[in-house]
Amino acid sequence: MKRILILGATSAIAEQTARIFAQRGDRMMLVARNRDRLEAMREDMQVRGAATCEVSVTDLTDYATHAGLIKTAYEKLEGLDIVLIAYGTLGSQKAGEKDFSVAMMELQTNFTTVVSLLTLLANLFERQGRGSIAVISSVAGDRGRQSNYVYGAAKGALTIYLQGLRNRLAKSNVHVLTIKPGFVDTPMTRDFKKGLLWVGPDVIARGIVKAIDKRKDVAYLPFFWRYIMFIIKIIPERIFKRLSL
Ligand SMILES: NC(=O)c1ccc[n+]([C@@H]2O[C@H](COP(=O)([O-])OP(=O)(O)OC[C@H]3O[C@@H](n4cnc5c(N)ncnc54)[C@H](OP(=O)(O)O)[C@@H]3O)[C@@H](O)[C@H]2O)c1
Repeated sequence: MKRILILGATSAIAEQTARIFAQRGDRMMLVARNRDRLEAMREDMQVRGAATCEVSVTDLTDYATHAGLIKTAYEKLEGLDIVLIAYGTLGSQKAGEKDFSVAMMELQTNFTTVVSLLTLLANLFERQGRGSIAVISSVAGDRGRQSNYVYGAAKGALTIYLQGLRNRLAKSNVHVLTIKPGFVDTPMTRDFKKGLLWVGPDVIARGIVKAIDKRKDVAYLPFFWRYIMFIIKIIPERIFKRLSL
């Protein structure tokens, strides 16, 4: 039985992942902004078999809450084995180009607030000498594109941060997983036209749990995104800059 903290638990991907943990009989604490959805999830997780399911209503962009939140999770769950950081926003790229305050909010939600949480969690996990820290980044962080480079920059920075953190924590037996989903049909992508490469959040959730169990470093989900992004990354910049991506 694992003790699991999920930050951004109402995300479609996180909810599907939490269901798998619940079916395994794990203990969990779910953190998100929406009280009603959290309460509904708590009931659902208990019905599905979770040993315990605590909830905390928190806006994760509020840095001042981070230390208390992690302390509470540690106390309520009587320790921590796995943390999944899933929250994020895909704001309007156009708005971010016009107004720095919009871009800054996007960078804060997707990067700097995550760094604040990871600073606390990394020190805790390093001291205990075990555990898994799993964070949802994105394939969007692998190469900047005109359609979403503010979001992509935040996720790219997060990917590099996690790479360094993994390098630091490897000697402490702490597992750091970077999750890079491709196109996932969730509320975040509600307005996007869907095609062949799209999958549901349940597919990503199964990939996340498998990657945690196998202590993988980086998980492209589904797997074929590793090959797609390999090709995207090797296109020379002088050609790439002229593409409408
Ligand atoms: N969908 C995709 O195609 C895709 C692809 C690659 C990566 N991702 C990443 O996957 C992760 C999960 O996204 P999703 O696709 O599952 O979308 P989603 O269902 O829209 O989930 C996003 C979640 O983030 C939460 N959130 C946003 N700001 C928050 C804040 N300040 N405090 C607490 N929670 C906050 C939202 O809570 P509220 O409901 O309260 O707003 C929502 O539950 C994100 O990191 C996203 O960037 C998604």
